Parts: sequence; structure tokens; C-alpha cells
Amino acid sequence: MNKTKQTDAAYQKCINPDCDAEYDCSKPLFKCPACGELLDVRYNWDKITIPSKLNEFSKRWAGRSNKLDFSGLWRFRELLDFCEDKHRVTIGEGQTILQQNDAIGKYADMKASRLYLQYEGLNPSGSFKDNGMAAAFSHATMVSAKSCACASTGNTSASVALYAHHCGLKSVVFIGSGRIAFGKLSQAMDYGTKTIQIRGDFDDCMRQVQEVCTRLGLYLLNSLNPFRLEGQKTIMYRIIEQLGWEVPDWIIVPGGNLGNSSAFGKAFYELKEVGLIERIPRMAIINATGADTLTDLVNNKKLIWNKGQVAQKVIDDYYADLTARNFSPQTCASAIEISRPVNLKKCLRAIDICDGIVRAVTDEEICDAKAIVGRYGLGCEPASAATIAGLKQLRAEGVIGSDERVACVLTGHPLKDPDLTVNYHKAKKGQFANAPIEVENDLEKIIKLIE
Ligand code: F0G
Repeated sequence: MNKTKQTDAAYQKCINPDCDAEYDCSKPLFKCPACGELLDVRYNWDKITIPSKLNEFSKRWAGRSNKLDFSGLWRFRELLDFCEDKHRVTIGEGQTILQQNDAIGKYADMKASRLYLQYEGLNPSGSFKDNGMAAAFSHATMVSAKSCACASTGNTSASVALYAHHCGLKSVVFIGSGRIAFGKLSQAMDYGTKTIQIRGDFDDCMRQVQEVCTRLGLYLLNSLNPFRLEGQKTIMYRIIEQLGWEVPDWIIVPGGNLGNSSAFGKAFYELKEVGLIERIPRMAIINATGADTLTDLVNNKKLIWNKGQVAQKVIDDYYADLTARNFSPQTCASAIEISRPVNLKKCLRAIDICDGIVRAVTDEEICDAKAIVGRYGLGCEPASAATIAGLKQLRAEGVIGSDERVACVLTGHPLKDPDLTVNYHKAKKGQFANAPIEVENDLEKIIKLIE
């Protein structure tokens, strides 16, 4: 066992049970140096004073002038206690809401008052990523990182760019040429990060950024970084907080690089471990059909967590086949256009924890669901709408009951991808298209159109 010194409350631990190496949190590690597997942040709970009841966290709303209490992340700081207060970074992330929505519920064939939407588009950079970045940049600050990098389908880069300039770190983001929605690209440029467009897809960018970070000693901000996932756990805390600390029956989340699903599984496992909840919800992870590695591996190749003894050969063979076919994922939900998800194994673990299931939905289903979220909800970007399309499919299959309580995570803001929205409506592509009507500059003709 490769054991190095641990900090008091938190440490990093390899997820490979055959390795089990532990490292203290002062090291910016993104894979286990001993075996190359993913790392977790783990806690010595006996060294942390955790509120005995979940509603203690809510009471912090009363002290909103304290910026840590105001943060929808650090309000839960005992549950991600890896750094001191002085290192905790916040720009007001996590002020997000859970919206109960019957019209969208009806679209997905749910009974009234059963569907909830956790709208993460309200974050400072417009996506759930800010939850992860507040945590990861706190760690980056703690280890005195000066420069950082990420690969991205767009939202990670926007969030990195925003937090980097807040924290005074130099940043560089790698994006696949032509693979990023314009709202996100505009943010990266506007927030002043060095934006490198690689002629390739997200998976190519992900490979390159790891090499670059190793060679140049940059702090990596993709969800390989275990501290990022600690921040993303708080999305689940906020859902159950808004349900009066009741756990829903289902959480539905889009699956891309599988950081969220991994973080959510860990969040519930830990809440149960420390005795703050009694029941863990089920989780459905939704891929796009053009980027459905997880669906294929879990549903067809029967890949499972198996107490950490994951059949690596199945994964290796799958990826070798993708390479042999020169496969590049294709979906209009560019945020989840990923075929080699880096958190695959942690996601398998989350599926195990949450009795999870995986489905894939078509671009057409995603676009229609997105239009429905726009019309009746707060709007969202395409990847987020995969959750509603997934719910509809799972209702049709009868896997989810119409009276079960479901929370879908709407991961990003509708203005992230205005092109797709305009095309859908203007080109009358889907059944909910709402195209603008052109008319001459003539009052009578205008009135005729409205009457
Ligand atoms: N939804 C949105 C809006 C996203 O931006 C992403 C991922 C996902 C869902 C998938 O989440 O990776 O945790 O499974 N976006 C990353 C990026 C890959 O680079 O912005 P995941």
C-alpha cells in the first residue's frame, strides 16, 4: 500500500480496490500515481463536526452577508471539508432553484406535482459547472497553482475562464473546432482565457490537455479532478433541501463525461454514511444516441462496478473498436458529444449506489423536449433537455411510475446555444416550432396577423 501523509479531515484515495493508495490533499493529482486510476476525495468524518440535522444547513440562509453562507456550495462546507475557509473560492454559485412543473410533467406523462426541475442555468457562468469550479479553484488556491487548463465542450471552458480571472490564475482551454455552441465560445473569449481550438473532437482535446498539464505543470480542471466533483455533490443537497429534506424517487441527469452522475452517487452514499438520509434515490443517466458509450457498455455489454473490479478488457475493446472505426460522436447536444467519458468507472459505481439505469435519446427527442422546457419552464440548453426526453422514454417503458417523484437536472442556460434554438423554430424542424412571421410594414396587415 502506497500511503503518504494525510491531512486531518480529507485525503485522496484511489478508487481501484487492488491499489487503495491514499494521498493527502496538498497534491494536485488527477489520476492515481501508483496505478493510473481515478481518485476520490474521502473524509475522516469523525474529525468533522457535521450538523446533526440537514436543516442546520438551511439556517445559514439567515446569514447571507457571510459569503460562504451565501454560496449554494459552501453552505454545505462540512460535507466537502477539504480546505480551510481562507482558501474557499466563491462568486455566488449555487443560487439555483427547484421548480415543480406540471406542464412539462404532463408532456412526459407524469401525474401532477410529481416532476421537479433543478435549474442550474442560474449559476454565474450559466451552467452547473460553477459548482465544480468553486471547489476545484479552492483546491487550486490551496496548492498555490498559478496556471490552469481544461478540455471542454463549452461549459467547462466558460466556467474555468470566469473563475480563473476571479482567482488570478492564467488559464487555457481546449475546444474541438466547430464542436462548441456559440454562447459558450463567446464566454471563453470574453472572460479572457487563451482559447485553443483543436482540429478534433472533445475526446481528442481531453487526451491533449492531460499531456499538456503533465508537461507544463498546469492545474487540470476537468472532472478527472476529484475536487471538482465535491462541488457538484451540492446540486443534490440543494434538491433535497428544496424538497424539505426529503429524497425524491428519481434523479435524472444527462451523461457526457459522467462527472455529475459520479458526484451525485457519491453525495447520496456519503449522506447515508453519515446518517443524514435513510434512503438513496434511483438515478437515470441519459446519453444522446450519437454519443452513447455508457448506454452501450451498461445495457449491451453488461459492464458493472463489481465492487471496483470493472472488466477493463470490455472497455479497452470498446475503445479500440471506436478507434478502428475512426468513430467521432455526433449529437446536436454538443455538451454531451463525448465517446470516451473519463469518469466511466465512478459512474458505474454511482449506478451501483443508486440502482441506476442508463438510456439514450435521439436528437429529435432532445430538441422537442428542449422546446417544451422553453415553453413551459425556464428554458435550458439541449443536453439538459435530454433528461426530459429520457423521462418520457422511461415513462413509456413503465420503468418510472407516473406518481413517483422525479427531479431532472437542467444543467445549462438556454442562451448557451441560441443557434440550435433559432434553427429549430425558424426551420420548423420539430413539432413545437414557433417561427417568427414576416410581414410588410403595414398596420392593417400586422393587426390581421394578431387577431
Ligand atoms: N449538460 C451540460 C450543459 C454540460 O455542459 C455537460 C458537460 C453535461 C451536461 C454532461 O455532464 O460531463 O458531468 O456527464 N459538459 C462538459 C464541458 C463536458 O466541457 O462543458 P457530465
